[in-house]
Amino acid sequence: MKPIPLQQRGMPVSRLSLGCMPLGGGWNSDPITAEHIKQGHEAVEAALSIGINFFDHADIYTRGKAEIVFGEVLKSNPGLRERIYLQSKCGIRFEEGPGKPHRFDFSREHILNSVDGILGRLGVEYIDILLLHRPDPLMDPDEIAEAFRRLKEAGKVRGFGVSNMSAGQMKLLQTSMDDPILVNQIELNLLHIGWLDQGVHVNQLASRDNYFPEGTLEHCRLENIQIQAWSPLAKGLLSGRPLDGQNENVVKTAELVAQLAEQKGTSREAIVLAWLLKHPAGIQPVIGTINPARIRNCGEAEKIELTREEWYSLYLSSRGRPLP
Ligand SMILES: NC(=O)c1ccc[n+]([C@@H]2O[C@H](COP(=O)([O-])OP(=O)(O)OC[C@H]3O[C@@H](n4cnc5c(N)ncnc54)[C@H](OP(=O)(O)O)[C@@H]3O)[C@@H](O)[C@H]2O)c1
Repeated sequence: MKPIPLQQRGMPVSRLSLGCMPLGGGWNSDPITAEHIKQGHEAVEAALSIGINFFDHADIYTRGKAEIVFGEVLKSNPGLRERIYLQSKCGIRFEEGPGKPHRFDFSREHILNSVDGILGRLGVEYIDILLLHRPDPLMDPDEIAEAFRRLKEAGKVRGFGVSNMSAGQMKLLQTSMDDPILVNQIELNLLHIGWLDQGVHVNQLASRDNYFPEGTLEHCRLENIQIQAWSPLAKGLLSGRPLDGQNENVVKTAELVAQLAEQKGTSREAIVLAWLLKHPAGIQPVIGTINPARIRNCGEAEKIELTREEWYSLYLSSRGRPLP
């Protein structure tokens, strides 16, 4: 299995990352409770127990509460911060009243202010990686590069990356940046397969409706940009979540996942993640469950080797139509 190239502090990066989006309860303005903090402790503990040392955040998750809960976990575990990687994101702004709609904002001022907010909520002096969350049509690469330079010089952020960006967008941004783009975090899972269909339908009419930006995976691989998969568990649809209202492909793929898990004596989560891990791009799944038992199930993925035939059977089941 390909190692993760993100290593910064002489510390290897775990193959799986824990996505912290659900910590802190809902995306409402309800206050954080002791139960939320307990949940944070249990999720982090379960993640550490399976070797995860990389934690993914964003300034907007549960409107800042996720980072606050994580900060509480750090506070009661002295020394933990130095044993883990912390990644967060900025650039999405929710509606802030009349004339301030939901928008993306890669302005220097917003990036700098966001990082101060992130550091304050997490209660740390620096984060390892800052990602730009979703492409801002108004982005000016020079302005972003200037913000990144200041953050690095101030010791607040050690490295930078992007999320949901195409190869073209990354190339444009890179022309201004001093440091290499380290990460692109995109949605990749067994039920969201445009990233594979795009490659197998080259020069075919079937590629007409494909949404995945051509050349993005290849660009990341050529430039050593770590591809991170968000929603790698397909929100649990292939590992036990009720399937009411789902189409036949989803139902059949969930059955195949269950069958393979049974055959290999492992969890369904492990099969779903092993399928992503088998891709030679060295994808790092950012698992979003905060259920300790499910987190531990995910930990089995690295012990599972799918054959090429098993990998294709899963892909074809999700596609629901033959390859060209
Ligand atoms: N960059 C971006 O634009 C972006 C967008 C979305 C997410 N992300 C990142 O990616 C991480 C993962 O994303 P995700 O949460 O969408 O993906 P995921 O890992 O595919 O799914 C996790 C979600 O599915 C639920 N789930 C899993 N198995 C289940 C089961 N058997 N039954 C019922 N529910 C089940 C989990 O609930 P439980 O906690 O109860 O298990 C959790 O809500 C996030 O935490 C975040 O860090 C990034």
